[in-house]
Amino acid sequence: MSSHTFTPSSPLKGRIRVPGDKSISHRALMFSSLAVGESTIEGLLEGEDVLATAAAMRQLGADIVRGDDGVWRVHGAGLGSLLEPRQALDMGNSGTSTRLLMGLLASHGFSATFTGDASLSGRPMNRVIEPLSQMGASFEASRGGTLPLMLRGALPAVPITYRLPVASAQVKSAVLLAGLNTPGITSVVEPVATRDHTERMLKGFGATIEIGEEGGERKISIHGEADLQPQQVVVPGDPSSAAFFIVAALIVPGSDLLIENVGMNETRAGIVHALRQMGGSIEERDRRVIGGEPVADLRVRHSVLTGAEIDPSLAPSMIDEFPVLFVAAALAEGTTVTSGLEELRVKESDRLAAMAKALALAGARVEEHEDGLTIEGSGGEPLRGTLEGASVQTRLDHRIAMSMAVAGLASRHGVNVDDTAPIATSFPDFMDLLESASR
Ligand code: S3P
Repeated sequence: MSSHTFTPSSPLKGRIRVPGDKSISHRALMFSSLAVGESTIEGLLEGEDVLATAAAMRQLGADIVRGDDGVWRVHGAGLGSLLEPRQALDMGNSGTSTRLLMGLLASHGFSATFTGDASLSGRPMNRVIEPLSQMGASFEASRGGTLPLMLRGALPAVPITYRLPVASAQVKSAVLLAGLNTPGITSVVEPVATRDHTERMLKGFGATIEIGEEGGERKISIHGEADLQPQQVVVPGDPSSAAFFIVAALIVPGSDLLIENVGMNETRAGIVHALRQMGGSIEERDRRVIGGEPVADLRVRHSVLTGAEIDPSLAPSMIDEFPVLFVAAALAEGTTVTSGLEELRVKESDRLAAMAKALALAGARVEEHEDGLTIEGSGGEPLRGTLEGASVQTRLDHRIAMSMAVAGLASRHGVNVDDTAPIATSFPDFMDLLESASR
């Protein structure tokens, strides 16, 4: 464990670029591995989670190399031609790698074992086991439907229409990926729209995907057995990583920061809407499309934030950004109320419990509820910070570590975080970038 104290910061200034989008990077590696021929991926996030996906795709037969130019080159094995892995697939900390690959392998005729770290091994997999079992795959999971687990794929698998019981892009994607190698049409109905990178990118790789409506709900149908064609993928900057710098610039007086090349897909942009609702000055510049995804440069200036009631319908489009939104709320004037966030309890950590405890430790006034937090802001006054000898528990969760790092920038005595190592799962350059922006 490597602890670190994040201390009061000078204003964040200049231009920065955040690394590539994690969700898009996973998908780019997976889909390239299914297309026969060479795909290239530019801007791939080189964080531990994505590297776990790359390692798994290699075990399944893809040839994946990183060029000296930073461009990744993938020679796909072809859909249906993946190889049975000889060893367990080690998914590290990554729920996305696990759930999407479980889907992909559910319609391949072999077995695979999935393992992960202590955080991932506590996360629920029944949400994917259930629909994939309906398609014919079978599973031997650890108690409570967790990792380590063994999957036996079905060949051929059976197409289904599955209505998501929880708003989850990972579950949606698992079923669609299983549908890739399944004869017939596999459909997912989502009552609430979740991030749509899978649909967008599969279309880009040449799959036949239809998006329609059924009873006011979004229905996505994929035609198997798909024939994916190699592509040149360009990965935009990750809005979830940008969120830490957006909030940092909003709460540190005197800041004026330009964050370039940030993905602005509406299914991910909830944090920008919520922070604007709180009075945050976030200006979009040069809106453009890169790799089939909307992108913009964001100019963020220090702002007097006001507490707000966050609309629970925004949750799916900012599901990973609540920890850092709670930090913004702790510095705002007045009360911020959040609800409908039960899903935060099954992320890399229980993010409601972890953030309630961490913020309280740093001197914020927080109340934890079953499905959200209520936060009484400081009105712009710096938080006290952690007391001598006390440190915030990261709980193997990168987003808790980075959120509390941001809180430390707007504190009197600094915030000590017990373990910064998990940051490398999604944002290996975080500490360097923070230093360069606040120099
Ligand atoms: C992701 C979906 C979300 C998100 C995760 C990445 C994806 O998870 O929290 O970080 O890439 O599909 P859920 O599907 O569990 O909401």
